[in-house]
Amino acid sequence: MTHHAIEITGLKKTYRGAKGAPENQALKGVDLSIPNGSIFGLLGPNGAGKSTMINIMAGLVLKTAGSVKIWGFDIDANPRQSRAAIGVMPQELNLDPFFSPRGALEVQAGLYGVPKAQRTSDEILEMVGLSDKSDAYARTLSGGMRRRLLLGKALVHHPQVLVLDEPTAGVDIELRQMLWANIRKLNKERGMTIILTTHYLEEAEEMCDEIAIINQGELIARDSTANLLGQIDTKTMLIDPMTPPVQLPQKTGIEVVQRPDGSLALSYQAGKTTAEEVLSAVHDAGIVIRDVKTEQADLEDVFLALTSAK
Ligand SMILES: Nc1ncnc2c1ncn2[C@@H]1O[C@H](COP(=O)(O)OP(=O)(O)OP(=O)(O)O)[C@@H](O)[C@H]1O
Ligand SMILES: [Mg+2]
Repeated sequence: MTHHAIEITGLKKTYRGAKGAPENQALKGVDLSIPNGSIFGLLGPNGAGKSTMINIMAGLVLKTAGSVKIWGFDIDANPRQSRAAIGVMPQELNLDPFFSPRGALEVQAGLYGVPKAQRTSDEILEMVGLSDKSDAYARTLSGGMRRRLLLGKALVHHPQVLVLDEPTAGVDIELRQMLWANIRKLNKERGMTIILTTHYLEEAEEMCDEIAIINQGELIARDSTANLLGQIDTKTMLIDPMTPPVQLPQKTGIEVVQRPDGSLALSYQAGKTTAEEVLSAVHDAGIVIRDVKTEQADLEDVFLALTSAK
């Protein structure tokens, strides 16, 4: 047992440029520990280095420098144990078209040396909703079904750590919810540590206990989701006025924008200005309120603030 499911120190990856192209520093020395039992989000813009990091953990890409421990096992010193501890659902749909879902799971189980008695192919097919397709050729599966099969393949050897690289990219809403329900269940009932990447930030906000953001090969933030959201304390009050305002509210600390639909968006720092003060500035401008709503910063705001700062 170990406290950290993943411990990464000084991780670097430089891809050599093909045919005289310059080399590419995809990871520039990343330190990251991921607590055992968490649902952890790895976020970052396209090309940030997320898949590179995941593929190094999975043993699919060779690192240039640094160390990686999975479930306490160093990937260089204990490659067999570290690989057994992790299951990876890759971003690329790399399935053999001639295997059926059941066949693909059995082959995968064979590769990992899972004894016949410990194989749970039917249970996994049921869980990912592919029972009725278990004997169909993979090439006849839809994109969403292929993704589900990739999730199934990552689970055959009962890993302690499950890594999902963009599990819901291009997946319909119903399937996305099914995937998330399954992932939560694996985390809760089996204590599986889950690491995922996604470009749907509301998904990360809802699912993840903790989040790391990487940008251009460097870790630029790592905190609990709640703390990251707390970093931005801008709030916006949306006022729908009874009649078009003659003058706009004026008060230091409140920024007013009139939106095309006639509503007024009043932004303020929650730590400095109270909602009461915003409302009285509205009254002072002679505006009668028909309706009022508030908007709070979400993960998208935090993400944009952090990744566009560079
Ligand atoms: N096999 C490779 N050979 C050369 N360069 C690569 C290779 N794989 C990735 N890269 C480069 O490494 C950088 C990081 O890529 P990576 O796939 O890790 O990003 P990512 O964060 O997963 O992006 P995305 O959100 O688009 O999936 C990019 O600049 C990419 O061009
Ligand atoms: Mg990627």
